[in-house]
Amino acid sequence: MTDTLIEKTLWHPVALSHAIGSQPQAANLLGQPLVLWRDADGQAHAWADQCPHRGARLSLGRVHGGQLECPYHGWRFEAGGACTHVPAVPDFQPGARHAATTFDTREAYGMLWVRLAAPSGDALPIHDLPLFAAETETRLRKTTSGPYTVAASAPRIIENFLDMAHFGYVHEGWLGSRDKPEIPPYEVKPTPHGVLATQCLAWQPRSSIHAESGAQVEYTYEVTAPYMAVLTKQPEPGSTAIEGLWESIAMFVCPVTEESSVAWTRMAMNDFESPDARLIDFQNVIFGQDQPVLESQQPKRLPLQPNAEAHSSADRMSAAYRRYLKDSGIAFGVIR
Ligand code: FES
Ligand code: CO
Repeated sequence: MTDTLIEKTLWHPVALSHAIGSQPQAANLLGQPLVLWRDADGQAHAWADQCPHRGARLSLGRVHGGQLECPYHGWRFEAGGACTHVPAVPDFQPGARHAATTFDTREAYGMLWVRLAAPSGDALPIHDLPLFAAETETRLRKTTSGPYTVAASAPRIIENFLDMAHFGYVHEGWLGSRDKPEIPPYEVKPTPHGVLATQCLAWQPRSSIHAESGAQVEYTYEVTAPYMAVLTKQPEPGSTAIEGLWESIAMFVCPVTEESSVAWTRMAMNDFESPDARLIDFQNVIFGQDQPVLESQQPKRLPLQPNAEAHSSADRMSAAYRRYLKDSGIAFGVIR
């Protein structure tokens, strides 16, 4: 057994890939300050944002000759984290104790993903990079919105993304209407990686940038990792207002602290005409409507005890998500 938080053994998104260049930048994951930078071979790195020498923030440094240089005394670190040069003592051969602390990284879905600790032997399926199935669908174009910096816990943000009963209030005139707030029963079932809700019906005045009139839309929602969820809307024969629109939108959330997060959406849609800016603007409007409510919720950490908050039958997906977090052993951003 290990006392490592299970969250530390999972992959989390920390930044858009295209935002990471030769200028080191700071990020924060699960309370761990990170420096993100890209080396001369194009490889992205995520290290502890603390120099092993005197603790200065490496994110204030620069990339020099493909190596990260500390801003304080100019120690240099190669891509693997080893210290290669101590300018004050040029002949000195730095050793393992002089190395930077490095973390595992992957690039996928237009994002850099970081894992703070290796999973132990009793690995759960959720230790893999979370699945966003639409990414490999060549008939869908991909774009990303965010970052959205939010004073809310990651699970509160995911739960909001899974919630349809707020559409008529928070997104009135866009994703819902006060006149048609009803959520018909839908199906919820556990999956090997999370939870799936199908046959989620809602009346939407303007469900996408293409909608010209209101329509009943059908979604599926899937939680594919503790802080990630995907909504998918596929064209249905017979539907008119959303004719032909097929989209799958992932909500990626980085748990920064227990009560603050950074979120992005990854959009995959069969719309190759609209400029990125238009698709991103739509997401910005929707998220901007959610944000004040998300930041107002108390407690900020999501309570997992079944009776901590009041529920209705429209909240079955939320209840399933909470059970999944509880069963997965998630402790960060929740009240167990
Ligand atoms: Fe980084 Fe001294 S603190 S080189
Ligand atoms: Co919303």
